[in-house]
Amino acid sequence: MTANISKCPGPFAIRPTRRLITRALFTLFALGLSAGYVIADGASPVTNIFKPDGAPARAIVDYTMLVLAVCAVIFVIVVGLLVYTVVRFRHRRGDEGHEPPQIYGSNQIELAWTVIPILIVFVLGLVTARSIAEIQNAVPPPTALHVTVVGHQWWWEIRYPDQGFVTANELHVPVSDTAHRNPTFLKLESADVAHSFWVPQLAGKMDVIPNRDNSMWIEPTTPGTYLGNCAEYCGTQHARMLIRVIVHPHGEFENWVASQQSNAANETQVKAGRDIFFATSCVNCHTINGTEAKGKFGPDLTHLMRRETLGSGAAPNTPEKLHAWVRNPQNLKQGCYMPDMQLTDEQMDELVRYLLTLN
Ligand code: CUA
Repeated sequence: MTANISKCPGPFAIRPTRRLITRALFTLFALGLSAGYVIADGASPVTNIFKPDGAPARAIVDYTMLVLAVCAVIFVIVVGLLVYTVVRFRHRRGDEGHEPPQIYGSNQIELAWTVIPILIVFVLGLVTARSIAEIQNAVPPPTALHVTVVGHQWWWEIRYPDQGFVTANELHVPVSDTAHRNPTFLKLESADVAHSFWVPQLAGKMDVIPNRDNSMWIEPTTPGTYLGNCAEYCGTQHARMLIRVIVHPHGEFENWVASQQSNAANETQVKAGRDIFFATSCVNCHTINGTEAKGKFGPDLTHLMRRETLGSGAAPNTPEKLHAWVRNPQNLKQGCYMPDMQLTDEQMDELVRYLLTLN
């Protein structure tokens, strides 16, 4: 490349640079897009705040559209006047000899450009206050589901206190419609640093702060999977602190709850793997209901295999990835707090065989 540049001076010399810039811009664009993607799928890969589902997100989009419309009108007026002025009062032949007319102040114009913006700000302020109040003062109906979400570096603990179980990284909720309103009210806590819970299609962001209980609610009206992520930088693996909200149709949610309430499977043919789990420090960090594993530092593993991803969205939850994850989590999620347990290959196989039964 260097040789070519030296042979072809002039306009050709900048071509590789231009190509580089184009490529860099394209890469940035692609990276930006892929930031919205999650590895394992079935779900819509890109989240979109302009495709709201449910009351709080819709209120935010309605408000956003109003602000965008007001700003668009102001933009068109300002740019229109600017273009008109530039064209109408441009320099013409014969202008050299004299100055344009000098005008000092105009009460009408100054009054207009003071009063109109004040009115616009006032109206937008009122609408903002109304939208915030509408979302924040919502009272949970008796049919509301209450869930506690705890942010950890770098995963989400999801507690269903009324149903008596805990899961991780995937928030399952029932669908809501006008006949059966089933909003979900979330209490947000942090186990360590500040995080932020954000599922763009369902609601705005809400910070998750240590020693402070924040709350928010969602009310999805279409069954499906909604993707979200931690929206507050919280350390090395902030980018792999993904959230999935799985919205179940009527009836299906109750089945899911019942499956989560059961104790973990206890199959005799995987006893060797289970013994390895209980002989290593796995047991200090993870809970498996119905066993003596009561650790709270890492995700509850009682129904591990029902989840779609590993490491809070770091990899799809397949047997191969599970093996790779347990072998050395640092390869899939560098910096995460789960260590390489230094097991032999045979121990690894037995342990993974046990984990695969946790359905
Ligand atoms: Cu948690 Cu960023």
